[in-house]
Amino acid sequence: MSFEQMWRDLAPVGRSQRSGGYHRSPFGSAERECAAWFEEECARRSLALTRDGNGNLVAWWRPDASVDGGVVTGSHLDSVADGGAYDGPLGVLSALAAVDLLRERSFVPVKPIGIAAFVEEEGSRFGVACLGSRLMTGALDPQRAAELTDGEGVFLPDAMSQAGLDPELGRSDLLDGVDCFVELHVEQGRELARHQDAPIGVGSAIWPHSRSRFDFTGEANHAGTTGMEERHDPMLTYAMTALAANKQARLAGARATFGRVDVRPNATNAVPSHVTAWLDARSETEGGLAAMTQDITRMATERAARDGTRVSVTEESLSGAVRFDPELASRIAARQDGTSRPVIATMAGHDAGVLAAAGIPAAMLFVRNPTGVSHSPEEFAEMADCQAGVVALADTLQRLAS
Ligand code: GLV
Ligand code: MN
Ligand code: MN
Repeated sequence: MSFEQMWRDLAPVGRSQRSGGYHRSPFGSAERECAAWFEEECARRSLALTRDGNGNLVAWWRPDASVDGGVVTGSHLDSVADGGAYDGPLGVLSALAAVDLLRERSFVPVKPIGIAAFVEEEGSRFGVACLGSRLMTGALDPQRAAELTDGEGVFLPDAMSQAGLDPELGRSDLLDGVDCFVELHVEQGRELARHQDAPIGVGSAIWPHSRSRFDFTGEANHAGTTGMEERHDPMLTYAMTALAANKQARLAGARATFGRVDVRPNATNAVPSHVTAWLDARSETEGGLAAMTQDITRMATERAARDGTRVSVTEESLSGAVRFDPELASRIAARQDGTSRPVIATMAGHDAGVLAAAGIPAAMLFVRNPTGVSHSPEEFAEMADCQAGVVALADTLQRLAS
């Protein structure tokens, strides 16, 4: 089946009629439909499916005479709330299409080729970015993971069981002994479109990234009868913190975003009692990330003292700086005509970064995104560039699995 046909098949799954964005929450019905679709496509190609107790899948093309190890590609099928079509699925569909192309070329891999689909890459439901690959590599304590809840208070293992899975959280041998992992992903910036004028790029590094929960506590009261001087309003402390985060990130050439807020009691005519807000922070260096988060925390604490509120900050996930294997990156960047694809850094997190941190040589291919917009219904890549991505991935797998 062609890449375009697969793209059309998956396009309606989890798509909002209203916004055109995707709601493929991990272990929810749309994401499970995508996973079932992936399993069917693997079966259609006689790929041997393996799974772990975290919900991650790897499907293997393992010719009889193939040696140990392997070259794995793939990405994720979940989306952020109201996300784009490309972030995640592009890597999985391109992997299937690349295997088809290699077979059309009558290529027989010496090393097995695997296609991976990791769960909860976005951390949109349980808060921890790259949850599936972190659990698989042992980077996340399974006990801590078992205690994670979603916005409705559902525990991770219960969500998995409700989705028909058999949870056994923790380190798994799904990728033990593999030679390398290559993730193809839509670019989430405009480096390829604006500066390089190239459809495909290769990843060099990922910025360090943290997520922290800010719990602001005040005192609920009547919006009409409570004088402005009498209030202990955590919304004000939060509002100043969001402005401070923006300013600190600008000053540091970094990124800081409050994109999710939970207010209690969430009533128009009540001063709130609690505001919980999540800070997504990214910086070029780990030191810069820590310093910026400390500055934002200090400013929130100082403001809370003035507002008569309290604030506590809990780090929910931390991803260190990733530098992809430069030798692997330059091998992948090299075109057959002797020229080289652009090699670019990204500020977005990826399973490839988690695997690299766990010692698996990893690399990324990026497909040009003309607007750079991502985590939005507007996310886009031209079909011709997606097709170029499939060819680049097939060439890469052929080179690495020979
Ligand atoms: C994932 O896309 C992230 O960077 O948060
Ligand atoms: Mn992604
Ligand atoms: Mn994403």
